[in-house]
Amino acid sequence: MQSLVLLPVGYPLRAGEEPAPFLTTDDPTLFQHYARSQWTGLVVRKGHFLFDSLLFPDYAFRAISVNPEESQITKDTKISLFSEQTTEPPIHSAIIDIKFEDVIGQKQAKEKCQIIAKFLSNSDLLNSSWAPKNILFWGPPGNGKTMMAQALSNETSHTILLVKATDLLGIYVGDGARKIRNLYAEARKEAPSLVFIDEIDAIGLKRNFQSIRGDVVELVSALLGELDGIDKNQGVVTIASTNQPQILDSAILNRFEELIEFRLPNNKERKQILEYYASTSPIPFNKIDWNTIVQETQDWSARALKEKIIKNAIHQAVLHERDSITTELIWECLKKSSEITEALPHYS
Ligand SMILES: Nc1ncnc2c1ncn2[C@@H]1O[C@H](COP(=O)(O)OP(=O)(O)O)[C@@H](O)[C@H]1O
Ligand SMILES: [Mg+2]
Repeated sequence: MQSLVLLPVGYPLRAGEEPAPFLTTDDPTLFQHYARSQWTGLVVRKGHFLFDSLLFPDYAFRAISVNPEESQITKDTKISLFSEQTTEPPIHSAIIDIKFEDVIGQKQAKEKCQIIAKFLSNSDLLNSSWAPKNILFWGPPGNGKTMMAQALSNETSHTILLVKATDLLGIYVGDGARKIRNLYAEARKEAPSLVFIDEIDAIGLKRNFQSIRGDVVELVSALLGELDGIDKNQGVVTIASTNQPQILDSAILNRFEELIEFRLPNNKERKQILEYYASTSPIPFNKIDWNTIVQETQDWSARALKEKIIKNAIHQAVLHERDSITTELIWECLKKSSEITEALPHYS
Protein backbone atom coordinates (compact mmCIF):
# COMPACT_ATOMS: atom_id res chain seq x y z
CA MET A 1 0.00 0.00 0.00
CA GLN A 2 1.25 3.48 -0.80
CA SER A 3 -0.88 5.56 1.47
CA LEU A 4 -3.57 5.34 4.08
CA VAL A 5 -5.55 8.08 5.78
CA LEU A 6 -7.23 7.25 9.08
CA LEU A 7 -10.09 9.06 10.71
CA PRO A 8 -10.28 8.69 14.50
CA VAL A 9 -13.84 7.61 15.29
CA GLY A 10 -13.84 6.43 18.89
CA TYR A 11 -14.73 3.38 20.95
CA PRO A 12 -17.36 0.85 19.95
CA LEU A 13 -19.06 1.36 23.30
CA ARG A 14 -19.57 4.28 25.61
CA ALA A 15 -20.09 4.31 29.37
CA GLY A 16 -23.08 6.48 30.30
CA GLU A 17 -22.62 10.17 29.70
CA GLU A 18 -18.82 10.03 29.25
CA PRO A 19 -18.10 11.92 26.04
CA ALA A 20 -16.08 9.97 23.48
CA PRO A 21 -12.50 11.22 23.17
CA PHE A 22 -11.36 12.45 19.79
CA LEU A 23 -7.74 11.44 19.34
CA THR A 24 -5.21 13.50 17.50
CA THR A 25 -1.42 13.64 17.26
CA ASP A 26 1.18 16.34 17.72
CA ASP A 27 3.73 14.47 15.66
CA PRO A 28 2.54 12.87 12.40
CA THR A 29 5.86 11.07 11.84
CA LEU A 30 5.70 9.50 15.25
CA PHE A 31 2.08 8.50 14.66
CA GLN A 32 3.11 6.86 11.39
CA HIS A 33 5.74 4.72 13.17
CA TYR A 34 3.24 3.83 15.87
CA ALA A 35 0.58 2.86 13.29
CA ARG A 36 2.97 0.77 11.21
CA SER A 37 4.23 -1.01 14.31
CA GLN A 38 0.78 -2.45 14.99
CA TRP A 39 -0.91 -2.74 11.59
CA THR A 40 1.81 -3.81 9.13
CA GLY A 41 0.57 -6.87 7.24
CA LEU A 42 -3.14 -5.96 7.46
CA VAL A 43 -5.10 -5.82 4.23
CA VAL A 44 -7.31 -2.73 4.29
CA ARG A 45 -10.10 -1.31 2.16
CA LYS A 46 -11.73 2.09 2.31
CA GLY A 47 -14.32 2.02 5.09
CA HIS A 48 -12.57 -0.65 7.17
CA PHE A 49 -12.01 -0.07 10.88
CA LEU A 50 -8.58 -0.48 12.49
CA PHE A 51 -8.48 -0.94 16.25
CA ASP A 52 -5.71 0.43 18.39
CA SER A 53 -4.18 -2.22 20.63
CA LEU A 54 -1.55 -0.25 22.50
CA LEU A 55 -2.19 3.16 24.02
CA PHE A 56 -5.99 3.22 23.65
CA PRO A 57 -7.06 -0.40 23.31
CA ASP A 58 -10.10 -0.85 21.03
CA TYR A 59 -10.21 2.77 19.96
CA ALA A 60 -11.27 2.63 16.29
CA PHE A 61 -9.94 4.43 13.25
CA ARG A 62 -11.75 4.34 9.95
CA ALA A 63 -9.76 4.04 6.72
CA ILE A 64 -11.05 6.95 4.64
CA SER A 65 -8.49 6.84 1.87
CA VAL A 66 -6.63 3.71 0.78
CA ASN A 67 -4.26 3.77 -2.15
CA PRO A 68 -4.24 1.45 -4.02
CA GLU A 69 -7.73 0.27 -3.13
CA GLU A 70 -7.65 -2.85 -0.94
CA SER A 71 -3.97 -3.44 -0.23
CA GLN A 72 -1.61 -4.48 2.51
CA ILE A 73 0.00 -2.11 4.95
CA THR A 74 3.79 -2.37 4.74
CA LYS A 75 6.63 -0.66 6.55
CA ASP A 76 6.72 1.86 3.68
CA THR A 77 3.04 2.78 3.70
CA LYS A 78 2.48 6.47 4.25
CA ILE A 79 -0.03 6.56 7.10
CA SER A 80 -1.61 9.78 8.23
CA LEU A 81 -4.24 10.78 10.66
CA PHE A 82 -7.06 12.79 9.21
CA SER A 83 -7.42 16.20 10.76
CA GLU A 84 -8.79 19.57 9.72
CA GLN A 85 -5.31 20.43 8.49
CA THR A 86 -4.78 17.33 6.37
CA THR A 87 -5.95 17.92 2.86
CA GLU A 88 -8.77 15.66 1.92
CA PRO A 89 -7.94 12.61 -0.18
CA PRO A 90 -8.33 13.59 -3.82
CA ILE A 91 -11.94 14.04 -4.82
CA HIS A 92 -11.15 15.61 -8.17
CA SER A 93 -12.46 13.89 -11.24
CA ALA A 94 -10.02 12.37 -13.66
CA ILE A 95 -9.08 14.95 -16.23
CA ILE A 96 -9.89 13.89 -19.73
CA ASP A 97 -8.21 15.58 -22.64
CA ILE A 98 -11.00 17.97 -23.66
CA LYS A 99 -10.48 21.45 -25.10
CA PHE A 100 -12.85 24.43 -25.50
CA GLU A 101 -13.02 23.83 -29.23
CA ASP A 102 -14.40 20.32 -28.60
CA VAL A 103 -17.49 21.79 -26.96
CA ILE A 104 -19.85 22.50 -29.84
CA GLY A 105 -22.07 25.59 -29.44
CA GLN A 106 -22.59 27.03 -25.91
CA LYS A 107 -20.93 30.25 -27.02
CA GLN A 108 -21.89 32.25 -23.92
CA ALA A 109 -20.49 29.63 -21.54
CA LYS A 110 -17.33 29.25 -23.57
CA GLU A 111 -16.75 33.01 -23.52
CA LYS A 112 -17.32 33.15 -19.78
CA CYS A 113 -14.80 30.37 -19.24
CA GLN A 114 -12.28 32.18 -21.40
CA ILE A 115 -12.84 35.30 -19.32
CA ILE A 116 -12.32 33.30 -16.13
CA ALA A 117 -9.13 31.75 -17.52
CA LYS A 118 -7.80 35.26 -18.24
CA PHE A 119 -8.67 36.47 -14.73
CA LEU A 120 -6.92 33.47 -13.20
CA SER A 121 -3.79 34.38 -15.14
CA ASN A 122 -3.69 37.97 -13.97
CA SER A 123 -3.59 38.45 -10.21
CA ASP A 124 -4.28 42.21 -10.37
CA LEU A 125 -7.48 41.52 -12.24
CA LEU A 126 -8.36 38.54 -10.08
CA ASN A 127 -7.96 40.45 -6.82
CA SER A 128 -9.99 43.40 -8.03
CA SER A 129 -13.65 43.68 -7.15
CA TRP A 130 -14.50 42.98 -10.79
CA ALA A 131 -13.35 39.38 -10.72
CA PRO A 132 -15.91 36.64 -11.42
CA LYS A 133 -16.80 34.97 -8.13
CA ASN A 134 -19.71 32.53 -8.21
CA ILE A 135 -21.22 31.36 -11.47
CA LEU A 136 -23.96 28.81 -12.09
CA PHE A 137 -24.15 26.66 -15.21
CA TRP A 138 -27.67 25.41 -15.75
CA GLY A 139 -29.65 23.65 -18.44
CA PRO A 140 -30.94 20.26 -19.54
CA PRO A 141 -28.56 17.32 -19.06
CA GLY A 142 -26.10 16.24 -21.69
CA ASN A 143 -25.25 19.58 -23.27
CA GLY A 144 -21.72 20.14 -22.05
CA LYS A 145 -21.73 21.57 -18.51
CA THR A 146 -19.34 18.98 -17.12
CA MET A 147 -17.46 18.86 -20.40
CA MET A 148 -16.91 22.65 -20.26
CA ALA A 149 -15.42 22.38 -16.77
CA GLN A 150 -13.06 19.67 -17.99
CA ALA A 151 -12.05 21.87 -20.92
CA LEU A 152 -11.46 24.83 -18.62
CA SER A 153 -9.27 22.69 -16.45
CA ASN A 154 -7.22 21.58 -19.46
CA GLU A 155 -6.91 25.06 -20.87
CA THR A 156 -5.39 26.73 -17.83
CA SER A 157 -2.35 25.82 -15.83
CA HIS A 158 -4.07 26.92 -12.61
CA THR A 159 -5.56 24.60 -10.06
CA ILE A 160 -9.13 23.59 -10.85
CA LEU A 161 -10.77 21.48 -8.17
CA LEU A 162 -13.53 19.44 -9.76
CA VAL A 163 -15.95 17.86 -7.32
CA LYS A 164 -19.23 16.12 -7.68
CA ALA A 165 -21.67 17.39 -5.08
CA THR A 166 -22.61 13.86 -4.04
CA ASP A 167 -18.96 13.21 -3.12
CA LEU A 168 -19.28 15.97 -0.56
CA LEU A 169 -21.92 14.09 1.35
CA GLY A 170 -20.18 12.14 4.06
CA ILE A 171 -21.28 9.21 6.12
CA TYR A 172 -21.14 10.96 9.46
CA VAL A 173 -22.76 14.17 10.54
CA GLY A 174 -20.22 16.91 10.03
CA ASP A 175 -18.33 15.13 7.24
CA GLY A 176 -19.93 17.24 4.52
CA ALA A 177 -19.27 20.57 6.18
CA ARG A 178 -15.69 19.50 6.83
CA LYS A 179 -15.22 18.49 3.21
CA ILE A 180 -16.46 21.89 2.04
CA ARG A 181 -14.09 23.68 4.40
CA ASN A 182 -11.17 21.51 3.30
CA LEU A 183 -12.02 22.01 -0.34
CA TYR A 184 -11.91 25.78 0.02
CA ALA A 185 -8.83 25.64 2.25
CA GLU A 186 -7.09 23.82 -0.59
CA ALA A 187 -8.43 26.28 -3.17
CA ARG A 188 -7.09 29.21 -1.11
CA LYS A 189 -3.73 27.54 -0.70
CA GLU A 190 -3.53 27.01 -4.46
CA ALA A 191 -5.02 30.40 -5.44
CA PRO A 192 -5.49 31.55 -8.15
CA SER A 193 -7.79 28.61 -8.45
CA LEU A 194 -11.28 27.49 -9.36
CA VAL A 195 -13.72 25.21 -7.59
CA PHE A 196 -16.24 23.43 -9.83
CA ILE A 197 -19.13 21.81 -7.97
CA ASP A 198 -20.95 19.53 -10.37
CA GLU A 199 -24.62 18.67 -9.88
CA ILE A 200 -25.05 21.02 -6.96
CA ASP A 201 -28.78 20.19 -6.77
CA ALA A 202 -27.74 16.99 -4.98
CA ILE A 203 -26.92 19.11 -1.92
CA GLY A 204 -28.43 22.54 -2.44
CA LEU A 205 -32.08 21.54 -2.30
CA LYS A 206 -34.78 23.84 -1.05
CA ARG A 207 -34.99 24.04 2.74
CA ASN A 208 -37.99 21.75 3.10
CA PHE A 209 -36.15 18.94 1.29
CA GLN A 210 -32.88 19.46 3.13
CA SER A 211 -34.36 18.31 6.41
CA ILE A 212 -34.85 14.86 4.89
CA ARG A 213 -31.09 14.46 4.88
CA GLY A 214 -29.94 15.53 8.32
CA ASP A 215 -26.46 16.90 7.83
CA VAL A 216 -27.13 18.52 4.46
CA VAL A 217 -28.26 21.61 6.33
CA GLU A 218 -24.84 21.86 7.92
CA LEU A 219 -23.13 21.29 4.59
CA VAL A 220 -25.22 23.96 2.91
CA SER A 221 -24.40 26.55 5.54
CA ALA A 222 -20.70 25.73 5.19
CA LEU A 223 -21.06 26.20 1.43
CA LEU A 224 -22.96 29.48 1.81
CA GLY A 225 -20.18 30.69 4.11
CA GLU A 226 -17.56 29.93 1.47
CA LEU A 227 -19.56 31.47 -1.37
CA ASP A 228 -19.95 34.62 0.74
CA GLY A 229 -16.31 34.71 1.75
CA ILE A 230 -15.43 37.47 -0.68
CA ASP A 231 -12.37 38.61 1.29
CA LYS A 232 -11.45 35.26 2.72
CA ASN A 233 -11.62 33.53 -0.64
CA GLN A 234 -9.66 36.03 -2.69
CA GLY A 235 -8.35 34.49 -5.86
CA VAL A 236 -10.87 31.65 -5.80
CA VAL A 237 -13.64 31.39 -8.41
CA THR A 238 -16.54 28.98 -7.96
CA ILE A 239 -18.63 27.47 -10.74
CA ALA A 240 -21.48 25.14 -9.91
CA SER A 241 -23.69 23.23 -12.31
CA THR A 242 -27.23 21.94 -12.19
CA ASN A 243 -29.83 20.41 -14.48
CA GLN A 244 -32.61 21.74 -12.29
CA PRO A 245 -32.10 25.27 -10.95
CA GLN A 246 -35.77 25.38 -9.91
CA ILE A 247 -35.16 22.93 -7.06
CA LEU A 248 -32.21 24.86 -5.65
CA ASP A 249 -32.59 26.67 -2.38
CA SER A 250 -32.99 30.40 -2.97
CA ALA A 251 -30.20 31.16 -0.48
CA ILE A 252 -27.82 29.22 -2.70
CA LEU A 253 -29.23 30.54 -5.94
CA ASN A 254 -28.81 34.12 -4.70
CA ARG A 255 -25.09 33.64 -4.13
CA PHE A 256 -24.49 33.27 -7.87
CA GLU A 257 -23.90 36.57 -9.59
CA GLU A 258 -24.40 35.03 -13.01
CA LEU A 259 -26.49 32.17 -14.35
CA ILE A 260 -25.30 30.74 -17.64
CA GLU A 261 -27.68 28.63 -19.62
CA PHE A 262 -26.56 25.57 -21.56
CA ARG A 263 -29.07 25.21 -24.35
CA LEU A 264 -30.15 22.28 -26.43
CA PRO A 265 -28.28 22.40 -29.74
CA ASN A 266 -30.01 24.14 -32.69
CA ASN A 267 -30.21 22.64 -36.20
CA LYS A 268 -26.77 23.79 -37.19
CA GLU A 269 -25.18 22.59 -33.94
CA ARG A 270 -26.92 19.22 -34.11
CA LYS A 271 -25.46 18.71 -37.55
CA GLN A 272 -22.02 19.72 -36.31
CA ILE A 273 -22.28 17.35 -33.35
CA LEU A 274 -23.37 14.42 -35.51
CA GLU A 275 -20.70 15.09 -38.11
CA TYR A 276 -18.01 15.55 -35.52
CA TYR A 277 -18.69 12.30 -33.65
CA ALA A 278 -19.22 10.43 -36.93
CA SER A 279 -15.77 11.59 -38.02
CA THR A 280 -14.22 9.91 -34.99
CA SER A 281 -15.87 6.54 -35.75
CA PRO A 282 -13.69 3.52 -36.50
CA ILE A 283 -16.28 2.47 -39.11
CA PRO A 284 -16.78 5.15 -41.80
CA PHE A 285 -20.14 6.88 -42.20
CA ASN A 286 -21.05 6.79 -45.88
CA LYS A 287 -22.65 9.87 -47.50
CA ILE A 288 -25.14 10.43 -44.75
CA ASP A 289 -28.09 12.73 -45.31
CA TRP A 290 -27.53 14.62 -42.06
CA ASN A 291 -30.06 17.35 -42.88
CA THR A 292 -33.08 15.09 -42.63
CA ILE A 293 -31.73 13.48 -39.47
CA VAL A 294 -31.25 16.92 -37.96
CA GLN A 295 -34.93 17.67 -38.71
CA GLU A 296 -36.02 14.55 -36.83
CA THR A 297 -33.98 15.25 -33.72
CA GLN A 298 -35.37 18.57 -32.47
CA ASP A 299 -34.98 18.78 -28.68
CA TRP A 300 -32.24 16.16 -28.55
CA SER A 301 -29.24 16.83 -26.34
CA ALA A 302 -25.67 16.58 -27.58
CA ARG A 303 -25.22 13.47 -25.49
CA ALA A 304 -28.33 11.82 -26.96
CA LEU A 305 -27.12 12.51 -30.49
CA LYS A 306 -23.77 11.00 -29.71
CA GLU A 307 -24.98 7.99 -27.75
CA LYS A 308 -28.31 7.14 -29.36
CA ILE A 309 -27.39 7.76 -32.96
CA ILE A 310 -23.65 7.60 -33.53
CA LYS A 311 -22.78 5.03 -30.88
CA ASN A 312 -25.78 2.85 -31.65
CA ALA A 313 -25.08 2.93 -35.37
CA ILE A 314 -21.48 1.88 -34.76
CA HIS A 315 -22.63 -0.97 -32.51
CA GLN A 316 -25.12 -2.19 -35.10
CA ALA A 317 -22.45 -2.03 -37.80
CA VAL A 318 -20.09 -4.04 -35.61
CA LEU A 319 -22.80 -6.61 -34.89
CA HIS A 320 -23.66 -7.09 -38.56
CA GLU A 321 -20.05 -6.82 -39.69
CA ARG A 322 -20.73 -3.91 -42.03
CA ASP A 323 -17.79 -1.98 -43.37
CA SER A 324 -19.62 1.31 -43.54
CA ILE A 325 -22.59 3.04 -41.94
CA THR A 326 -25.44 4.23 -44.16
CA THR A 327 -28.29 6.72 -43.74
CA GLU A 328 -30.63 3.74 -43.58
CA LEU A 329 -28.87 2.25 -40.57
CA ILE A 330 -29.04 5.58 -38.80
CA TRP A 331 -32.80 5.76 -39.45
CA GLU A 332 -33.16 2.36 -37.83
CA CYS A 333 -31.33 3.57 -34.74
CA LEU A 334 -33.43 6.70 -34.61
CA LYS A 335 -36.64 4.74 -34.92
CA LYS A 336 -35.59 2.27 -32.26
CA SER A 337 -34.63 5.05 -29.90
CA SER A 338 -37.98 6.84 -30.33
CA GLU A 339 -39.86 3.59 -29.76
CA ILE A 340 -37.97 3.05 -26.51
CA THR A 341 -38.66 6.62 -25.40
CA GLU A 342 -42.37 6.22 -26.13
CA ALA A 343 -42.56 2.92 -24.30
CA LEU A 344 -41.05 4.41 -21.16
CA PRO A 345 -43.41 5.70 -18.48
CA HIS A 346 -43.66 9.43 -18.68
CA TYR A 347 -42.62 11.45 -15.63
CA SER A 348 -43.60 15.06 -15.69
N1 LIG B 1 -21.74 20.91 -26.55
C1 LIG B 1 -21.24 19.67 -26.76
N2 LIG B 1 -20.39 19.43 -27.79
C2 LIG B 1 -19.91 18.20 -27.99
N3 LIG B 1 -20.19 17.13 -27.22
C3 LIG B 1 -21.02 17.31 -26.19
C4 LIG B 1 -21.58 18.58 -25.90
N4 LIG B 1 -22.36 18.47 -24.82
C5 LIG B 1 -22.30 17.18 -24.44
N5 LIG B 1 -21.50 16.47 -25.25
C6 LIG B 1 -21.21 15.03 -25.14
O1 LIG B 1 -22.09 14.48 -24.17
C7 LIG B 1 -21.38 14.04 -23.01
C8 LIG B 1 -22.13 14.42 -21.75
O2 LIG B 1 -22.13 15.81 -21.58
P1 LIG B 1 -21.95 16.51 -20.16
O3 LIG B 1 -20.96 17.60 -20.29
O4 LIG B 1 -21.64 15.48 -19.14
O5 LIG B 1 -23.40 17.09 -19.93
P2 LIG B 1 -24.01 17.86 -18.70
O6 LIG B 1 -22.93 18.02 -17.68
O7 LIG B 1 -24.49 19.16 -19.26
O8 LIG B 1 -25.15 17.00 -18.24
C9 LIG B 1 -20.02 14.72 -23.11
O9 LIG B 1 -19.03 13.95 -22.48
C10 LIG B 1 -19.81 14.80 -24.61
O10 LIG B 1 -19.34 13.58 -25.11
MG1 LIG C 1 -22.84 16.98 -15.90
